[in-house]
Amino acid sequence: MEYDSRFPVKEIEKRPPNMWRYREAIPIEFDRSIISMSEGFTPLIEEEICGRKVLIKQDHLFPTGSYKDRGASVLITYAREHSVESVVEDSSGNAGCSISAYSARAGISCEIFVPERTSARKLDQIRAYGARLRLIRGSREDTARSILKVASERFYASHTYNPVFLHGTKTFSFEICEQLGWKSPDTIVLPVGNGTLLLGALIGFQEMKSAGIIDNIPKIIAVQSENCSPLVQAFNRRLVQPVPVETKPTVAEGIAIERPVRGSQILRAVRDSGGLFLDVSEMEIIEARTEMARRGHFLEPTAAATIAGLKKYTAFSDPGERIISVFTGHGLKTV
Ligand SMILES: Cc1ncc(COP(=O)(O)O)c(C=O)c1O
Repeated sequence: MEYDSRFPVKEIEKRPPNMWRYREAIPIEFDRSIISMSEGFTPLIEEEICGRKVLIKQDHLFPTGSYKDRGASVLITYAREHSVESVVEDSSGNAGCSISAYSARAGISCEIFVPERTSARKLDQIRAYGARLRLIRGSREDTARSILKVASERFYASHTYNPVFLHGTKTFSFEICEQLGWKSPDTIVLPVGNGTLLLGALIGFQEMKSAGIIDNIPKIIAVQSENCSPLVQAFNRRLVQPVPVETKPTVAEGIAIERPVRGSQILRAVRDSGGLFLDVSEMEIIEARTEMARRGHFLEPTAAATIAGLKKYTAFSDPGERIISVFTGHGLKTV
């Protein structure tokens, strides 16, 4: 789904500091439809990682505690604009929290399917927003399969299939470029499960390049857990799409996606950017989480996986490279 985005820079700079300041780039017709909690424009903070200064976007500070609010705010606005009264969604937890929260705000009834092993705090959070919760036995893929029949009869507010969600996550890149003085970074280090942040970020940079705001699309470094790494393995074997791989449980539940729906799109995006995939071990994830907490940043393990990948990448990156990464989920979401 392409959109002819415009960036009236002088106007944008005068607007409130949230993701809706890029109004002309978000495919929603009427302002009155907007479901927002003034989310976004998250701080870009400097941290020293392996002796190098990098910038990290604090997307764990969104209303529900993860960047998924970017997509949910736009997707539920779209649903309201089309008079939808009831939505369904399947999730590893965080997208379910976001879709539930924004549905509650929009007065839309909501049902969320999640794997039964999802963190108890995320389940509490979904219930607290008033959504109906369906716990599904088995893996994340079993949950995805179990929703298909319901999804064909109701509005499927899917963060993986529905392209409108990516028109929310793309604001991640708009904010980065504005925060850098309307310039793009050299490299972004991102987590990847179903790729909703990665693909949204790429759309964001592409739209800004087409509009003549930035000159370059950054190199994308995509991070997976060693225990569930279909994309890393496909990349290393030079495949154009992921193939079934053996997986083990991982503390990084948000990126434990065995069969990413948009796998070939993600592989192409990373290759075309000149980037690469990295995997990180359970120990590296836990160490990164502790290291960030000792600096005051409390992250959920999935978010810490990205920082473990960032540590690996900075070790061999060019000294002058401007690198940006992200805290995707708050530590209060997991025990
Ligand atoms: C905290 C966190 N980080 C990263 C991801 C990975 O996102 P994606 O599946 O869009 O690649 C998720 C997905 O649920 C998540 O919850």
